[in-house]
Amino acid sequence: MIRERAYPVEPWRIRETRLDLDVLAQSESVFALSNGHVGLRGNLDEGEPHGLPGTYLNSFYELRPLPYAEAGFGFPESGQTVVNVTNGKLIRLLVDDEPLDVRYGEVLAHERVLDLRAGTLRRTLHWRSPAGREVRVVSTRLVSFTQRSVAAISYEVEPVDGSLRVIVQSELVANEALPPQSRDPRVAAVLESPLQPEEELSREAGGLLIHRTKVSGLRVAAAMDHEVHGPERTTVTTEGYQDWIRTSIGCVVEPGQELRVVKLLAYGWSSKRSLPGLRDQVAAALTAARLDGFNGLRRAQREYLDAFWDTSDVQVEGDPEVQQAVRFGLFQVLQAGARAERRPIAAKGLTGPGYDGHSFWDTETFVLPVLTYTLPAAVADALHWRHSTLPLARERAQILNLAGAAFPWRTIRGQESSAYWPAGTAAFHIAADIADAVRRYVQATQDTQFEREVGLELLVETARLWRSIGHHDRHGVFHLDGVTGPDEYTAVKNDNIYTNLMAQRNLWIAADAVTRYRDEAFHLGVTDEEAASWRDAASAMNIPYDPELGVHQQVEGFTRLQEWDFRDTPPDRYPLLMHYPYFDLYRKQVVKQPDLVLAMHWRGDAFDADQKRRNFLYYERRTVRDSSLSACTQSVIAAEVGYLELAHDYLREAALMDLHDLNENTRDGVHVASLAGAWIALVAGFGGFRDHDEVPSFCPRLPSKLGRLEFSLTWRGLRLRVEVRPHETRYDLRDGPDDASLELRHHGELVRVICGETVTLPNPAVRPAGPPPEQPPGRSPLRKVEEIEP
Ligand code: BGC
Repeated sequence: MIRERAYPVEPWRIRETRLDLDVLAQSESVFALSNGHVGLRGNLDEGEPHGLPGTYLNSFYELRPLPYAEAGFGFPESGQTVVNVTNGKLIRLLVDDEPLDVRYGEVLAHERVLDLRAGTLRRTLHWRSPAGREVRVVSTRLVSFTQRSVAAISYEVEPVDGSLRVIVQSELVANEALPPQSRDPRVAAVLESPLQPEEELSREAGGLLIHRTKVSGLRVAAAMDHEVHGPERTTVTTEGYQDWIRTSIGCVVEPGQELRVVKLLAYGWSSKRSLPGLRDQVAAALTAARLDGFNGLRRAQREYLDAFWDTSDVQVEGDPEVQQAVRFGLFQVLQAGARAERRPIAAKGLTGPGYDGHSFWDTETFVLPVLTYTLPAAVADALHWRHSTLPLARERAQILNLAGAAFPWRTIRGQESSAYWPAGTAAFHIAADIADAVRRYVQATQDTQFEREVGLELLVETARLWRSIGHHDRHGVFHLDGVTGPDEYTAVKNDNIYTNLMAQRNLWIAADAVTRYRDEAFHLGVTDEEAASWRDAASAMNIPYDPELGVHQQVEGFTRLQEWDFRDTPPDRYPLLMHYPYFDLYRKQVVKQPDLVLAMHWRGDAFDADQKRRNFLYYERRTVRDSSLSACTQSVIAAEVGYLELAHDYLREAALMDLHDLNENTRDGVHVASLAGAWIALVAGFGGFRDHDEVPSFCPRLPSKLGRLEFSLTWRGLRLRVEVRPHETRYDLRDGPDDASLELRHHGELVRVICGETVTLPNPAVRPAGPPPEQPPGRSPLRKVEEIEP
């Protein structure tokens, strides 16, 4: 596990000051670079030692059979697993006959810096070989945001104590051996040699490998080229075989000289394109990379990020760790989604093989809300991808005897890949999460073309699904029975409150959209009766409530279930799913991630203030947060109901999930939703931002340690900047014409902000909420490092 404060607290960088081989896999995830299309784990240049080698391409997967001891009707037959594709990061170094390997000789200095503004990973190494020769190496790596298929590495070698004979071996390697799989079901199934060679081409300073997966039949091409700046008589040769290509660069470097190798990499994959087509595609990408060269790519990277931070940065005064972590989180969200372009955004982005590289509801519920207000074009892309999988989702609905579209719980390409139906198939709420992401995006951008061409159909097909899953009982009340909400410790139950409330809004907004786009709706076969039936269902939706206790029920009957015996649950038996049968988890009051609290965030319009407080108190005592998606939601509602310090603790858990490896599984990839959750906890928690309707609303309130919070939201082409201080909040509007203005709510009061003017409003005093609620023993917000004083 990553030990206490592995990375110094700095506002714009993640810096590792010494190499700790025990946490290599974790640091490879933290230092992974990606643009949403290509992902390189932060493996050391020389490839060894490694925790988990990894190079990924969005949606490049292999199929594997899902084994069932007792299969049932409608079980998915095969699963999709992300493939570790051809490794282009490899650069080995021979120092006077001795391979540079940090396990041998002496590491005199080793530093890695992930620079969040430059978008680069820079490594500096001072090494003494076992024979006593010293060398300095500086490598700078980037995965380009501006050239989607391109990555580049600048590798500099300098002798320290006299002239050195150095050989640089820069490689492309397919079918790397991977470490054995752990027992944790969340870890990817390891695929042995998944790539079959199709073509290998090598020439003086580079080459290309083309492979194809055995079962999914996807083709991948990786190409490399080098620019070499070395002393006179530097030699460059390349050789290759089916699974590898090696460019060798040899020279004698005198003191004061250096050898600099720039490695340009291009990746491409396709399920349809021919081998020559793909070969040309990566060759073209390399040509484009050569046009810019390393310096050009680096400049463009910086400009891209300058623009991103200009519109999206969040400033936090009073907690420098959170300041660093929220920027790291935003950077990871950007890395996961920026250039995904009509492909999914996976739970781990492209930083590791965890969860088999699958996308879940995490994307729509945690990642897209952040992107909606920071990089809205990426949201349109992600929803276009969902839309492109509609035929599969319709097919799945048919198999399940349902109408409309049943989107997969976990997938890479759109087919359901969950082998555990109570948490997979039954978790239908993903449909409403998608619908809500459509609503949010359209509301924030007024992109009516998207709404007409993409959004409408998603809304209609998801509404149809709800109408067919549910039924009106003899009193007319509408129920969604036998479903699973986000809380996977309460499965296949009637009327999950999160599902019901999200489905209710889904039905309403679908019915509204149909009236706006009559012709298009007609083409989708929607009749007035059908839309009316959606409204009827929504209005009659059952919202389970326990009048005796005065709290809502997470599912019908939840509050009368047996309590979980927390006192008798030792700390080492968490996460519970790894130590207790689902049978037991399902029949007791124990919550993995809090559905009701989540509903109170995204459907906060359905509860009053008193209900929110009572519900929060009740469910806090029963929520164990065995999912990293939990803390940010608890932070948001803790802030809303007045437990600002608790909200701050939860914010820290969400934000530091990977930098402190709080769940001890960062090795498999970073937790993109939890990192997005840092933004959510700050903006929706302490900023009190809600987007239930056309008027964005804010209820700013800061915990005692934060002196200032500033964030910006992109809203209908304008940029709204919000600066929260303990007693007042300032709003201003940028990027619009002088007469542009925006109406917002500040603590319930309607206010108009005009472009170029600042509106300053007082923050009402926060009403004392009483003593904070207790969590189950041992389950208070996680922290490894004691909070530091500002
Ligand atoms: C959570 C799910 C989530 C998945 C991927 C699980 O542990 O319970 O809600 O979608 O992780 O992040």
